[in-house]
Amino acid sequence: MAVVEREHVEALDAADPLAPFRDRFVHEDGDRLYVDGNSLGRLPREAAGALAARVEEWGARLVTAWADWIDLPLEVGDVLAPLLGARPGEVLVADSTTVNLYKLAHAALDLRGGAIVGRADDFPTDRYVLQGIAAQRGRELRLVEDVRDGLAPPVALACLSHVDYRTGELEDLAGVTAAARDAGALTLWDLSHSAGAVPVGLDAAGADLAVGCTYKYLNAGPGAPAFLYVRRELQERLRSPIQGWFGQREQFAMGAAYDPAEGIGRFLAGTPPVLGLAAVEAGARLLAEAGIERLREKSVALTSLVVDLHDAWLAPLGFELGTPREPERRGAHVSLRHVDAWPICRALIERASVVPDFRRPDAIRYGLPPVYTRFVDAWDAVDRLRRLVEAGVHREVDAGPARVT
Ligand SMILES: Cc1ncc(COP(=O)(O)O)c(C=O)c1O
Repeated sequence: MAVVEREHVEALDAADPLAPFRDRFVHEDGDRLYVDGNSLGRLPREAAGALAARVEEWGARLVTAWADWIDLPLEVGDVLAPLLGARPGEVLVADSTTVNLYKLAHAALDLRGGAIVGRADDFPTDRYVLQGIAAQRGRELRLVEDVRDGLAPPVALACLSHVDYRTGELEDLAGVTAAARDAGALTLWDLSHSAGAVPVGLDAAGADLAVGCTYKYLNAGPGAPAFLYVRRELQERLRSPIQGWFGQREQFAMGAAYDPAEGIGRFLAGTPPVLGLAAVEAGARLLAEAGIERLREKSVALTSLVVDLHDAWLAPLGFELGTPREPERRGAHVSLRHVDAWPICRALIERASVVPDFRRPDAIRYGLPPVYTRFVDAWDAVDRLRRLVEAGVHREVDAGPARVT
């Protein structure tokens, strides 16, 4: 198999229309290669500036600034909406992905009877939340390989990730949404690994509900608030199971009884994380400027490069591709499987200055956010991996038991 030369990928970088965006992020000193933006994205310089400005505002204005802060969850949601293919008033930035999933799954079950369908190997928090809700509400929970196989009526809710956190497989959002609708179920998508990297097209697909993280491809920082989406036509019929005062109509009337606000605001619970919202807004604006279609085009080229290099260099070393080969079935990370994946991952970090992450049982994930990853970064990260395994360096490290990377 013909190997892609480094000169070739240097030429790809030189011709890349998104190349100027790289300098709008903070890069660590030295030769470290960061391929874990699917876990925690880099810091955008604009986010650092926006956070500093917000902190200053806090110091200068104190409680009087709340007039400007109070609508931020909805305003930042509207900034995020175009990246998700949503309309204004359909996206809210609040709480964590876990909490948002809990709120929307409960709300969906109020509307529909029947089982909950999820994926047996979906991200743990999604499965745990569904397990808890199913037990609490006495609903059947079907955890299956392919959600389409679990849709026998009566079914209330289909909940699944758009991009699989381990394999990087991209699910057919429109197809699954249509199949669920035909079965009488609402859909709840976890967009954590697609928001900001893959065009989502929620409205075009007629998707009902969605949640997702902002600290991955949206680059809003560790613990930044998550987002939730509720299709406009459903909003008035759904209620949050958390009857908090921020979701209350006429919040400051301090009324005796809970009466949910109109629109997406009813899915708020408590006081919004004003600092974190500044970073979400900066991250979303930056990606909107880059353009989600251009980002996807570059992302496909980056993952295709890693797949080609895997075939040429890594397969002979005992690696297996854990990600679909067809570009249209992939998100923005590539999963490289090997029996020694954990010690290899540790050796990459400690001895080769490459930062990927490891997912049980045997996958090294190379996340390649297109907004700041160069083609040479992807090439070098695979080149260092093959050299390290060829030399057996991973057999020299004391990896210990696998835990967070
Ligand atoms: C698919 C998916 N859902 C949810 C989460 C986590 O959500 P939270 O921010 O609530 O911890 C992650 C974290 O990596 C994830 O990959």
